[in-house]
Amino acid sequence: MSELKNIMRIEGGVPLNGTIKAQGAKNAALPVMAACLLLKGGSLTLDNVPDLYDINTMKELLKSLGVNVKDLGANKVMLDVPENISHEAPESLVRKMRASSLVLGPLLARCGKAVMPLPGGCSIGSRPIDLHLKGLVQMGAKIEIKSGVVYAKADKLRGRRIYLDFPSVGATENLMMAAALAHGETIIENIAREPEIDNLADVLMSMGVPIDLEGTGCVRIKGIDEVHSGSDKVIPDRIEICTYILAAIMTGGQVTINNIIPDHIDAILAKLEEAGAKFKVNKDSIILTPVKRLHAVSFRTMPFPGFPTDAQSPMAAALSIAKGTSLIEENLFQARFLYTQELNKMGANIDIKGDTAIINGVESLHGADVKATDLRAGAALIIAGLAAQGVTQVSDMVHVWRGYEAIDAKLKSLGARVELLD
Ligand code: EPZ
Repeated sequence: MSELKNIMRIEGGVPLNGTIKAQGAKNAALPVMAACLLLKGGSLTLDNVPDLYDINTMKELLKSLGVNVKDLGANKVMLDVPENISHEAPESLVRKMRASSLVLGPLLARCGKAVMPLPGGCSIGSRPIDLHLKGLVQMGAKIEIKSGVVYAKADKLRGRRIYLDFPSVGATENLMMAAALAHGETIIENIAREPEIDNLADVLMSMGVPIDLEGTGCVRIKGIDEVHSGSDKVIPDRIEICTYILAAIMTGGQVTINNIIPDHIDAILAKLEEAGAKFKVNKDSIILTPVKRLHAVSFRTMPFPGFPTDAQSPMAAALSIAKGTSLIEENLFQARFLYTQELNKMGANIDIKGDTAIINGVESLHGADVKATDLRAGAALIIAGLAAQGVTQVSDMVHVWRGYEAIDAKLKSLGARVELLD
């Protein structure tokens, strides 16, 4: 990781050209790493684990619980889990990353108890875990929250039918992992259908858990007494891929991205085709070819297979220089438009009305000093800087290092004029 430099300086106006490989998916790697906690003396070996700040936080969290984390090189990680581990997640690490809440389900199922501070909210919204806790209680857990800390106990979770009020990604993942060691079968309905869920199911099946993921928003999991060592590969990062697709389009370059799963980015590709983008999709790669200028399109963010909220801000950056007025309705998070104020400093013309961004496309953006307010906002500002005339400095890059492996090196390999400053 680029020793976490805080500023990226970008000289815009240079078309990106060349070939890059997509990283492993941050949002798939985090839950599958947490799944190792189900083991009682065994190991989980994972391939294609991205080298990211959030992945390091999860490694620290697992180590603090007693897991022996071995980096085998080339994005391969082995997680060795002893017979006895701690059931208490340290506050410092849980506060750092909301996804730390994914240790709750496996810890409770495997230790019969778990202590975990409530994860903090962040700049995009409050981010409660009520659906996670409700499902665990339905499976027989006793849960108390005292001074912002969750105390969960369950001698043996019991499998049952659970209906999720909302197809929450994290709640689906936590409950799937808890169900792996529950007594009997658990059927979870209205689950999240993001590709990361399938990746977790594959990892759990590699550990001996019988799972039937019917693909219809429902999953059946037969609880077993003990899971065994397993191994699997993390899927490509569909949001990182979208970010580079949009960077290529905004700069008018010709870029090939390898190691993709096209089905995972259907919603974005459909919207980009509607906006006039030109690209060729192969089995596991995409080739972007230059177009003069996109025209405006509108969309609303939805749970998968709808347009993903994580691609909303990079897409808004691309639409800020499209021809015409685009509307984006954000339905997943209450505050995911903070970045538009920063884009407007670069000459964009974006108004926010309630949960909708009204983007009046401008001919071009100009460089400015801007701040990343969250991971995907930072990505949006970087790709805007690549297309803008002049120099842009994006600060608070710590957000971007959470989810974009070697983004400076990848962009440089495509001809971008970027450098990192303290
Ligand atoms: C995952 O977050 C991703 N993070 C997010 O990516 C992504 O934006 C989100 O899914 C939606 O796709 C990881 O996978 C680590 P949710 P998660 O539970 O699991 C509400 C990024 O940029 N909700 O599906 O937290 C919640 O407040 C990050 O990589 C409850 O109300 O998402 C939100 O409004 C950002 N109660 C909505 O549901 C709950 O118990 C979606 O949340 C759980 C969620």
